[in-house]
Amino acid sequence: MNPGDGGSIATMCGIAGYIGPRNAVEVVLDQLKRLEYRGYDSAGVAYPANGHIEVLKRAGKLTELKKLVDEVPRDSRIAIAHSRWATHGGPTNENAHPHYDAYERIAIIHNGIIENYLDLREELLAKGHKFRSQTDTEVAAHVIGEEYTEGVPLEEAVRKGVKRLRGAYALVVLSQHEKGKIVAARNASPLVLGIGAGENLLASDIPALLPYTREVVVLEENNIAMITLDNVSIMDLDGREQPVKPIHIEWDIAAAERGGYDHFMLKEIHEQPEVLRQCLAGRIDDNYQVRLEQVFSEHVWTEIDRVNIIACGTAYNAGLMGKHLFEKLLRLPTDVYYSSEFRYGDPVLSPKSLAIFVSQSGETADTLAALRLCKSRRIRTLGVVNVIGSSIARECDRTIFTQAGPEISVASTKAYTAQVTVLTLLAMYIAQVQEMPGVRVEEAVAELSGLAAKADECLKLEPQMIELATQFKDMPLCFFLGRGADANVALEGALKLKEIAYIPTQESPAGEMKHGPLALVQPGVIAVFGSTDPETRDKVVSSMKEIQARGGTVIAVVTEDDTVTERAADAIIRIPASKLGFLSALLTIIPMQLFAYHIARLRGCEIDQPRNLAKSVTVE
Ligand code: G6P
Repeated sequence: MNPGDGGSIATMCGIAGYIGPRNAVEVVLDQLKRLEYRGYDSAGVAYPANGHIEVLKRAGKLTELKKLVDEVPRDSRIAIAHSRWATHGGPTNENAHPHYDAYERIAIIHNGIIENYLDLREELLAKGHKFRSQTDTEVAAHVIGEEYTEGVPLEEAVRKGVKRLRGAYALVVLSQHEKGKIVAARNASPLVLGIGAGENLLASDIPALLPYTREVVVLEENNIAMITLDNVSIMDLDGREQPVKPIHIEWDIAAAERGGYDHFMLKEIHEQPEVLRQCLAGRIDDNYQVRLEQVFSEHVWTEIDRVNIIACGTAYNAGLMGKHLFEKLLRLPTDVYYSSEFRYGDPVLSPKSLAIFVSQSGETADTLAALRLCKSRRIRTLGVVNVIGSSIARECDRTIFTQAGPEISVASTKAYTAQVTVLTLLAMYIAQVQEMPGVRVEEAVAELSGLAAKADECLKLEPQMIELATQFKDMPLCFFLGRGADANVALEGALKLKEIAYIPTQESPAGEMKHGPLALVQPGVIAVFGSTDPETRDKVVSSMKEIQARGGTVIAVVTEDDTVTERAADAIIRIPASKLGFLSALLTIIPMQLFAYHIARLRGCEIDQPRNLAKSVTVE
């Protein structure tokens, strides 16, 4: 099995299921414990008891659920359990999984996002359904429950039900009437089955299976699985039986947590196409219109006269990309501040301005302080945050979540692409509500929706990046250069290399080289150029020549249609072009991340926890 197969996609939630001779409630809680490293905000378990399905759930850590479970002895031979990373609805007891259908005959757990849940919810409300939570999962439970009529087996009800759902999901269903089976469905969210001796299991990720079995089946897209005590069967959405192909997993548990990758950073780099899909899920409709429900009402956008983006580290670099787009696309004046500078800088703030706080963790002390400063001045605040329930998410007037899943490596990768994607969506949303003449929103949104596939292509550059890393791992200094949006991405490329490989970097817009940095160029120095904009291509080529003339070596990351730069560069990396040039620039970060990662690996650095750095800086 290769790294990434089945176990490495950006799972937001933990899923566990067990049928066998052991105490199933204990087994599924143990399975969840093994998924704890990915973070979560609530958890729950369901098992059959006294003629119904008992559901126990709690907001907070797994220990909260455990306390509830331990109040009385619980014993069952079958159970399902879930740990949640909230996407729809906050982390509360009600919103935790499992959820019942309308008649409490089935309980379901779910990972992913049901995109058409609002339409389905309305349809069900009109039929008299009542909902206990705000989640898309409960809607899915009611849909499957509707199909679960007299004489219909559970797997058939699930098959019919999931045909009505749109989005990305892994679903697991338990019924009070059929206590000998667990049914699961997968579409674009991972689900793995574990084949044991006289017991069977399922989970969202392989580490949750390994203590029980090493024979694993990765459920394929759009397939439905049924596990019983002594059998595992799979069918497609048309009910046709599918082969069950177990693979033997050799990984130890720590490697399994990293999806088989050597480091979380590499896993997270590889998750980016999936993260882009998750980030856009439910936010782009079939007509390429942006749907952002969490933001201000439409009239607010016509009032805003300025945007200030405030953030630290990688999030600051993402903010620079936001500025580029807000100004280019919307002609909306935008400034980007380091949070630490903003809070002590006595900033001049227009009362009609919007302050955007970009943060993966939602807990960075300087960003939080800057937010509080804006609130005290009554400025509108908007968060672009990954962690739901975090301080910045709670305190901003509105927050758009990046939906990138937990990021564990200190050096940020997938959070960056998700932050830039959210800022892009936001810019397109503003253009849409303002009906801006000259901005072709549909075309731009269509490009955005194709980004994940292009990110997949960029990952295929890894062998080439390994070659370059091997060649240049001992360089004394690395320049990262570009113009326009490429110059912004260059900052992030440089940050990765210095953070994890401890190689000094010099990053600046290419046009600034002559004003100082060029003095640092000498033989042995490497310059990585992002060059995706045809308009500035010739100028970038001139900068490359200036570096080569002084003994430096040039690596150029260009779009596949560029036939000019290859004649100038010493090494050329080709990424797919996007019609929205800005997105081509964003894609160049993927080979740069891989370059930094492989250099750090070859130099024997501690990649996931680089020296002197922390994932979340909650002190000044
Ligand atoms: C630390 C992390 C960076 C991150 C920055 C901002 O320096 O190591 O990866 O970009 O904090 O963190 P935030 O959680 O606010 O995005």
